[in-house]
Amino acid sequence: MAAKKPTVKKKQTEVIFDPKKIAPALVKTAHVKGMEGYKKLYNQSVKNPLAFWGKVGKEQLTWFKPFKQVLKSNFAKAENQWYVGGKTNLCYNALDRHLTTARKNKAAIIWEPDNPATPSRTFTYQQLHFEVCRMANVLQANGVKKGDRVTIYMPMVPELAMATLACARIGAVHSIIFGGFSADSIKDRIIDAGSDFVITTDTGYRGGKVIPIKAKVDEALEKMSGHVRKVLVVRHTGDHVNVVAGRDIWWHEEAEKVSGVNKAAEIDSEDPLFLLYTSGSTGKPKGVLHTTGGYGVYASFTHKIVFDIQENDTYWCTADLGWVTGHSYILYGPLINGATSLMFEGIPTFPDVSRFWKVIEKHQVSIFYTAPTAIRALMRFGDEPVKKHDLSSLRLLGSVGEPINPEAWLWYHRTVGRGKCPIVDTWWQTETGGILISPLPGATPTKPGSATLPFFGVQPLLVDSDGKPLKGATEGNLCIQFPWPSIMRGVYGDKERFYNTYFSTFKGYYFTGDGCRRDKDGYYWITGRVDDVMNVSGHRLGTAEVESALVLHQDVAEAAVVGFPHDIKGQGIYAYVILKEGRIPSDDLRKELIAQVAKEISPIAKPDVIHFTPGLPKTRSGKIMRRILRKIAAGEIDTLGDTSTLADPAVVEILVKDRQK
Ligand code: WTA
Repeated sequence: MAAKKPTVKKKQTEVIFDPKKIAPALVKTAHVKGMEGYKKLYNQSVKNPLAFWGKVGKEQLTWFKPFKQVLKSNFAKAENQWYVGGKTNLCYNALDRHLTTARKNKAAIIWEPDNPATPSRTFTYQQLHFEVCRMANVLQANGVKKGDRVTIYMPMVPELAMATLACARIGAVHSIIFGGFSADSIKDRIIDAGSDFVITTDTGYRGGKVIPIKAKVDEALEKMSGHVRKVLVVRHTGDHVNVVAGRDIWWHEEAEKVSGVNKAAEIDSEDPLFLLYTSGSTGKPKGVLHTTGGYGVYASFTHKIVFDIQENDTYWCTADLGWVTGHSYILYGPLINGATSLMFEGIPTFPDVSRFWKVIEKHQVSIFYTAPTAIRALMRFGDEPVKKHDLSSLRLLGSVGEPINPEAWLWYHRTVGRGKCPIVDTWWQTETGGILISPLPGATPTKPGSATLPFFGVQPLLVDSDGKPLKGATEGNLCIQFPWPSIMRGVYGDKERFYNTYFSTFKGYYFTGDGCRRDKDGYYWITGRVDDVMNVSGHRLGTAEVESALVLHQDVAEAAVVGFPHDIKGQGIYAYVILKEGRIPSDDLRKELIAQVAKEISPIAKPDVIHFTPGLPKTRSGKIMRRILRKIAAGEIDTLGDTSTLADPAVVEILVKDRQK
C-alpha cells in the first residue's frame, strides 16, 4: 500500500505528519496512543510528579530494597536525589532479571563488525550474563572495588558493553572515553577521575583501517607515572601490542581463571554509576556524574516510550558507546527493557555509502536511531543506495545530537522511512541523562525540524537574557524548571562547578545552553547553542579547548575559535590565529596547527579553517567580540552591527578582507 500523503493544515506553513495517518498500525499498539493519551499522562506527570515517578520507578526497575522517598531536592541549589533509600543494581536489571523469563535466549546484543565479510556475533541475555559475570570476577580478582573509577578506552566491540556492565555489577564507576580521543585527552581524564584501572583492546577497525587503541593508552600512561595499576587488554584484532609486565593483563587469560557466577552488588540509588567527560564553554571537559536509580529509571522509561519498544523489535542506535547516547540508548535503556540492541563497529560509508541500509536489511532492523550529520552525508548520494535495499522492516526512525534541518528530515522520512515511519527528533544532553523533548511516535503529530513537546515530567521554560520567563509563541534561552530522575548529580571533583555552570545564569532554573523557539502550538524548535560550545557532526566541543590546543604551538600568540554553518557537519570549526612576532603564515603552518589540535584533542576537533590575522576585534576592556567573529566566519559581513565600541575597529576590515573561503 502506498504511503498516505501528509496532511497540510491550512494557514500553517509547516507540514504536519500525523502518526494516525502515516503509521496507523503503530498507533494501535503504541505504549502511548494519540495526543489524548500523551496529554493525560503529561498533565498527571507535572501535577503530581512524585506520584508519577514513584509509580514509574517501581515499574521500570527491580529493587533489592524499595525506596523510601521518590525525590529529595533543592533544585535551585542543584541538589537532587531520586528514589532515596532504594537499593538496586543496573547490571542485574539489564541482565539477571530477564533470565527467568522468555527473554533468557533472546538476543540482547547483535554485533555488526566494521568489515561486512566478518561474521556478526550475537549474545543472548544468558550468554551476555555469563560474560559480564566473568568480567566482573576478573575486575574483582584484580582489586577493583565498589566506588573505584575504571577508565574504558575501546572501539565498538561487544567486550566494551561487557566491561561497562561489569563495572555496574560490582559498583565500580565507569568512565568511557570515545575511541577517537587522543593520548593527551585519555591522560587528562584518567587523572581527573583518579582512576587506577584501565580496560582497552589491542587495536580496532574503523572504515577498513586499523586504528591504534592500546598504543594510545600506553602513550597516555607514559605521561603520568604510577597512576594506573592495571590495564586489562581485550584481544580484538590480534595485532601485536606492547605488553608492560606487572601492569598489563589479557582478558582471555584472566577469564580462564574465574567462574561465570557473580552476585550483583547491592547499590544505593544515589551511588555513582558513571562519569562521562563532556565539553563546556570554559576550561577542560568536565566529568559529568550520573548515579544509579534515577538514571536507570529515566533511561529505560524514555527508551520504552519514545522508541515504543515492543518485544520483537530489533533496535539500532548508531552512536558510539563513548557518548551519552550510547550509554543510555545502546546499553542501559534497551537492556533494562529486555530489548535486542544492535551494536555497530563501523562507519556509514564503509565499504560503501549503503552500509547502513545493508545492515538494516541484514538484521531486519525495526527501529533506527541516528544523527542528522549522517543523514545529510548519505542524502548527498541520492535515493539509489537506499532504494536498492529492503527496508520494509523499519517502523520507526529517530534523530539525535543536533538540530535536524527540514530537508534532511523529509528525506529521512520519505526515502529511508518510505513515508510510513514516524520520526522522533529527540533533544537532550549528556547532563540530562535521557531524552527531555521529543515526539512520541504513536501520539505526537510532527513538524520537520521540531523536537516538538516535552517528555513526561519535563517542564521546559524559555527565558529572556535577564532570566524573565517568556510566555506563548516566543524565542529564548531553554531552561528546565523541575528536576527529572536522570539529571546529572554533579561535576566530578568540583561541587561548585555544577551549580555555577548550570544554575547560576538564570536563578532557580537548569540552563541548557541551548537557544529555542516555541511556536503557537507549543512546539519546541531548538536553534542551537547560545554559549561557546560547538556541535560538530553531533560531537560536542568547546571553543576554549580548541584554542588551548592551538596556543600550545610555539608560533602561536593567540587564537579565537568559533563555529560556522557547515552543510554536512552542522557546524564547522573556524579558527582565527595570531602568530608571534616574526612568524610567517603559510600552508605548512596551517597543516601543523590542524595536526596539533588532532594530537591534543582528537581528529574530530580539527579546524576546517585557519585564518591568520594580525589582530582580533576586542572591546576596550580587552574582551574578544565573538559575535563579530561568528558573523565573519559565517560570511554574514553585511550584518556585523555596531563596531564603533571596539578598541581597534580597523581590525574588522582586515578580517573581512582576509576571510577564508
Ligand atoms: C544538541 C547528545 C537539536 C544541543 C544527546 C544539546 C540537539 C547538545 C538535539 C548536547 C536535537 C542534541 N535537536 N539539538 N534533537 N539533540 N542537541 O551532550 O545543542 O553530546 O545541548 O548530548 O546537542 O550534546 P551532548
